[in-house]
Amino acid sequence: MAPRVLAPGDPVVFVDRRRRSYYAELAPGGTTNARGKLLAHDDAIGATDGSIVRSPGRVAFHVFLATYSEHVLNMKRHAQIVYPKDAALIALWADLHPGATVVEGGFGSGALTMAILRAIGGGGRLTTYELHAEPAGRAFKNVAALLGETPNHTVRIADIYAGIEEREVDRVILDVPEPWEVIPHAIGALRSGGLLAAYVPTALQVHRLALALTYSRWFPAVDSYESIVRPWHVTARSVRPEQRIIGHTGFVVVGRKAARELVWVPGSRSEAPDPPADVVEPDESNG
Ligand SMILES: C[S@@+](CC[C@H](N)C(=O)[O-])C[C@H]1O[C@@H](n2cnc3c(N)ncnc32)[C@H](O)[C@@H]1O
Repeated sequence: MAPRVLAPGDPVVFVDRRRRSYYAELAPGGTTNARGKLLAHDDAIGATDGSIVRSPGRVAFHVFLATYSEHVLNMKRHAQIVYPKDAALIALWADLHPGATVVEGGFGSGALTMAILRAIGGGGRLTTYELHAEPAGRAFKNVAALLGETPNHTVRIADIYAGIEEREVDRVILDVPEPWEVIPHAIGALRSGGLLAAYVPTALQVHRLALALTYSRWFPAVDSYESIVRPWHVTARSVRPEQRIIGHTGFVVVGRKAARELVWVPGSRSEAPDPPADVVEPDESNG
C-alpha cells in the first residue's frame, strides 16, 4: 500500500526524541504546542505519514497518522469511553468480522463504534441506538476524523430498552447502563448462533447480566472477561513494567444465541442461585 499523505482533518501525533507524543487534528493554519515548541499544521499537511517536521527552533518531531488507540484516548469525549484494551477484547470475543451486521447500544463518544466499524469493514453494516441526539453530534465527528465517510453506519436516536427494529443480525454489542433490559429485544434481533456482548463497569452488573442471559433460556453458554494490560518500559538500561497503568475499567460479558429456546437452564442449581419462579429446572433428557 502506498504511504499515506496527511490531509486536513486527519488525527495525528507529533512524537519528540524522548518518545513523548502530542495529539492534534490537522487544521490549515493550526498549531500544536509541544511543551513550548509550536508545530505548524501546514508543515504536516501534505507530508507523508512518518515524516519529520520542525518547530521554529528547528527541533525535530515525527508526525504520524494517529492509530485507533491514540485517537480514542485523545479525542474530545463527553461520556466514559470503552478503552482500547476492552474494545480489543470485544472485537475478538464477540467475533466481529468483515461483512457482519451489528446492532450497537450506546453511541457515547464513538470509541467502541469505531472499533466495530473497523472490524466489520465496508461490507458490514452497523446500526447504533443512542438516546441523545446532541452528544451524538460529537461522536459523529470523532468517527469521521478517524474513518472518514461511513455510509454503512446508521444512528437511530431511540431507546434500545424499548426495542430493536433490525432482524437476523450477527451481533448485538451493548454499552448502556442496564444491558439486561435489552435481552428480550436482542433475542428477537439476533440470528441463530449470533452473539451478544456487553461492556459493564462493575461485578454486580456482570452477575446480573450473566444470570439474566442464562435465565432467558436462549443463551446456553455465557462467558465473562476482564482485560488487564500492563505496558512495559524498555530502554538500554532498564526493562520493567510501567509505574502507572490503567487499573480497572470494566468487564465484557458474551453470550451466543441458540436456535431455539432451551427447556433447561444451563448450570447446576448451586451455580445458579435464585432462579425466577417460572424457570424449569435442568432436564438431562433435553439436548
Ligand atoms: C458509556 S456511554 C457509551 C460509550 C461508548 N461505548 C464509547 O466507547 O464511546 C453510554 C451511552 O449510552 C446511551 N444510552 C443510555 N441508555 C440508553 C438507551 N436506553 N438506549 C440507547 N442509548 C442509551 C447514553 O446516552 C450514552 O451515550
